[in-house]
Amino acid sequence: MKLDGKVALVSGAGRGIGRAIALKLASEGARVVVNDLDAEPANETVTAIRAAGGVAVTCPGSVVEPEFGERFVKTALDEFGGLDIIINNAGFTWDSVIQKMTDEQFQAVLDVHVTAPFRILRAAAEPIRRFAKQETDEGREVFRKVVNISSVSGLGGNAGQINYAAGKAAVVGMTKTLAKEWGRYRVNVNCVAFGFIQTRMTQPIADTNEPVDVGGRAIKYGVQPALLDTLAKQQIPLGRLGTVEEAANGVYLFCIPESDYISGQVITVGGGIRF
Ligand SMILES: NC(=O)c1ccc[n+]([C@@H]2O[C@H](COP(=O)([O-])OP(=O)(O)OC[C@H]3O[C@@H](n4cnc5c(N)ncnc54)[C@H](O)[C@@H]3O)[C@@H](O)[C@H]2O)c1
Repeated sequence: MKLDGKVALVSGAGRGIGRAIALKLASEGARVVVNDLDAEPANETVTAIRAAGGVAVTCPGSVVEPEFGERFVKTALDEFGGLDIIINNAGFTWDSVIQKMTDEQFQAVLDVHVTAPFRILRAAAEPIRRFAKQETDEGREVFRKVVNISSVSGLGGNAGQINYAAGKAAVVGMTKTLAKEWGRYRVNVNCVAFGFIQTRMTQPIADTNEPVDVGGRAIKYGVQPALLDTLAKQQIPLGRLGTVEEAANGVYLFCIPESDYISGQVITVGGGIRF
């Protein structure tokens, strides 16, 4: 298996794309620390990984808590004695046009997509440097992997998402910066920007849709059905939205040894979407 012996952190892995990433990495032999804001879906992901013969533990809680990064990293070190793969996936959208967007709304989305990954990666710096020094002293070259999740909204902009687009653009800057800082430690730092992937975030808007509770906030998720149809027919050359498994496969490419000489890159996983 490609990831035998590796230890992976996946944030927001209780549902959607993060869940599929955790399952994929575990199916290739990685031991996974599964985070989600909501403990129940995080536990369910761990149960699914174990049922398939994999190894995983949960680290529930909000990634925006100031101490979360330290706790996430410590869980990997305490439970599995290593830290090889970090996937910054947790997030949510909270849309509105600029004149209706509150400071809280703008900041909350930056907190989850920018500040939280920054703190997780900062917490990982010390153990990564320590492991890298030891491996260098032993004459071994071991690659570690960071994959930050962005969006075509961050690369091309999207009306109604000035908070989210700003956050997802910042993820690209963080990725490129850390690729330069951590090359010396043999860490590949890359970014995957999704197009439209089928999750609760991109469900067709309907009167029957209940708002989703995200950390106590009632968020109305969804995309107008007509827009989804136009997207699929006119803007996505592959003709449909992606599945969570297809999204996870894009992330997986940056986690395997075949990508050891690729760093600081952004790939779009979106069926060829024009944006
Ligand atoms: N679905 C898409 O089309 C799409 C497109 C581009 C980018 N993305 C990005 O992909 C990632 C996953 O999105 P998804 O579509 O799977 O959404 P999702 O809502 O299905 O899953 C996101 C998970 O993150 C968790 N989460 C949210 N806030 C959190 C917090 N503060 N701490 C810990 N966990 C938290 C949620 O509880 C949820 O389980 C996000 O970063 C999202 O912005 C998704």
